[in-house]
Amino acid sequence: MSHRIGIIGGDGIGPEVIAEGLKVISATGVKLETITYDLGGARYGRDGTVLPDEVIEEWRDLDALYLGAVGTPELPPGLIERGLLLKMRFALDLYVNLRPFTYEENNIDFSVVRENTEGSYAGEGGVLRQGTANEIATQGSVNTRMGVERCIRFAFDLAARRRGHLTLVHKTNVLTFAGDLWERTFNEVADEYPEVETAYNHVDAACIYFVQSPEQYDVIVTDNLFGDILTDLGGAISGGIGMAASANLNPSRTGPSMFEPVHGSAPDIAGQGVANPTAAILSGAMMLDFLGENHAAHRIKEVCADPEVQVQGTAAIGDAIAERVS
Ligand code: NAI
Ligand code: MG
Repeated sequence: MSHRIGIIGGDGIGPEVIAEGLKVISATGVKLETITYDLGGARYGRDGTVLPDEVIEEWRDLDALYLGAVGTPELPPGLIERGLLLKMRFALDLYVNLRPFTYEENNIDFSVVRENTEGSYAGEGGVLRQGTANEIATQGSVNTRMGVERCIRFAFDLAARRRGHLTLVHKTNVLTFAGDLWERTFNEVADEYPEVETAYNHVDAACIYFVQSPEQYDVIVTDNLFGDILTDLGGAISGGIGMAASANLNPSRTGPSMFEPVHGSAPDIAGQGVANPTAAILSGAMMLDFLGENHAAHRIKEVCADPEVQVQGTAAIGDAIAERVS
């Protein structure tokens, strides 16, 4: 059986690292049928296309999407982020952004479950009198009981399968409206999971604990904005941005989920063959896990944790990993 995967290499180092991910998956023996989509900043520069609705409709029949990185610094800010990445998350209801971190050296083995369709990224707000001395900009945070609860449930399920510990991260002492909804929902769902121990951290305190005592975490659940920032810190304490993988999941499986490295298109090193493909390869392993190819996924993760595969060069790292998984 082969899985039908949409490939969006994107810009900069995106296509370079995705090529290595596909190389490694192929070495495991898992069969993919790939359909390539030319999207991102370069495509926009050529003909103004960002993400047509017809393309989203085509994606609905796929098993998964595998994305490198999209965006180039010369584009207006938000054009690709809102027009492609966020549009994809909303249209395909990719409501969980899952980012695992493992790094033995720092005693790190935790996963962040970030709400991926609401919060301050929902696009609520607007501008008035733009460009004048009296201009106003508002950017609200949208938190629905349904959206918060399904994300929290996913996190409890995950914690129950791992070491049985879940931490809610928020800022309930200042963001009292949204914080109250999150905290109450968290506590109510917790009653259904007596086997999962729970904790709460304010987001600023969590930044300290990430650096000073990350071993206390098993699973973390948080909102869209806090999760975005906290997972960059997570990457920085666990081997760097070249290692950080992520999954944008539709756990209800009403459509494809999307798998991508945390990093961007890294224009500063694009085309030099020096980007680390490990984050993309690990994102590929998360994709295989989600597709039920658990054995191959496990093997890739095991090999990626071996410091010996961290040789010099994008293709050389890909080769070293591919050789060991086959
Ligand atoms: P970036 O992640 O592309 O780069 C930040 C720094 O990390 C750079 O110094 C880069 O060389 C380094 N880096 C990133 N990935 C690496 C890898 N695999 N191996 C070695 N070094 C690596 O973030 P930046 O510079 O803020 O954004 C560049 C472009 O990427 C922007 O246009 C941005 O909008 C876009 N972007 C796209 C994302 C996505 O597609 N999901 C996520 C983040 C940024
Ligand atoms: Mg980010």
